[in-house]
Amino acid sequence: MKILNSPKEAIEFRKALNGSIGFVPTMGALHEGHLSLIEKAISENDFVVVSIFVNPTQFLPGEDLDKYPRRLEADFEICKRAGVDAVFTPTAENMYTKDEVLIKAPKIKGYILEGFNRPGHFDGVLQVVNKLFNIIKPAKAYFGKKDAQQLYLIKQMVKNFFFDIEIVECETKREKDGLALSSRNVYLSDEERKRALSISKALKRAAKLSSKTKNIEEIKKEMLDILDVDELQYIAFVDRDFNYINKIKPGDTIILIAAKVGNTRLIDNIWI
Ligand code: PAF
Repeated sequence: MKILNSPKEAIEFRKALNGSIGFVPTMGALHEGHLSLIEKAISENDFVVVSIFVNPTQFLPGEDLDKYPRRLEADFEICKRAGVDAVFTPTAENMYTKDEVLIKAPKIKGYILEGFNRPGHFDGVLQVVNKLFNIIKPAKAYFGKKDAQQLYLIKQMVKNFFFDIEIVECETKREKDGLALSSRNVYLSDEERKRALSISKALKRAAKLSSKTKNIEEIKKEMLDILDVDELQYIAFVDRDFNYINKIKPGDTIILIAAKVGNTRLIDNIWI
C-alpha cells in the first residue's frame, strides 16, 4: 500500500494508474462505517484510494479541530488489511495556499440545518472535496448517508461543476444498539453514550410512526418525548433534495436530528 504525502505525489501516482479508481475521502480515525465504504469501493473498482485529512477549513473557530481524533498508524493498518492501494495524507500546508480561489456552498441549502449551526462549514467541505476530486480523479467516490446534507451538496457540486464522478451513497453503520458510528463518539462518557442512544431511538420511532401518519407535528412530538439530549439543535423533515416538507412523503423523506450530548455534537438521520 502506497502512502502519498502530498498532492504532487498523489497526482503522479494517479497518472501512472491504468484503471478505474474508487475514492473514499475521510478525516481518519477510521471505524466500521469507513470500512464499509472502503469495502464497497474495493468491490466496484480496479484501484481504491483513501484520503485521510483533517480539513481545517471545515471547522469553525472554537470547534474540535485540535482535539479531533488522529490515529494515522492504526488507520494505515485498517486500510492495508482491507486491500486499499493508496492512502493520501496531505498536510494543510500542501493543500492550501494563502489567498485561494474559494468555493461557496449554495446560499440556501448550504446554510440551513448543518450550515445554519456551522456557518461556512460546507464551504470548507466543498473546497477540499473539489481539490481531492481533481487530484485523485476517481470514477466513483463513496460517502455515507449519515452526513446527508454533505452528501446532497457534494452531488450538487458534481452536477454544477460537471465532474465526471459517480457519487455512491452508503448506508449508515450503527452499533448493535443503534448508535450511529462516528469518529466523535469517542468523546462520549458512558452516561452520555446512553443518552446519545435516544437520538437513533427517536429516529427509529419516527420511521415506524410514518407508516401510520404523515403528520410531521405528531411525529415530532413523539420524537421529543424520546430525546434525552442536552441541546437539541434541530429536528428536520426534508425531501431527498433538502427542501423542507410539511408532511411525510414515503420514499422521499429524510428526518434529521442534530444535538449536543455533554459537549459532543452528534448528527443522525433516517431515510424513509
Ligand atoms: O465526511 C468527512 O469526513 C469530511 O467532511 C470529508 C468529506 C472527508 C471532507 O473533509
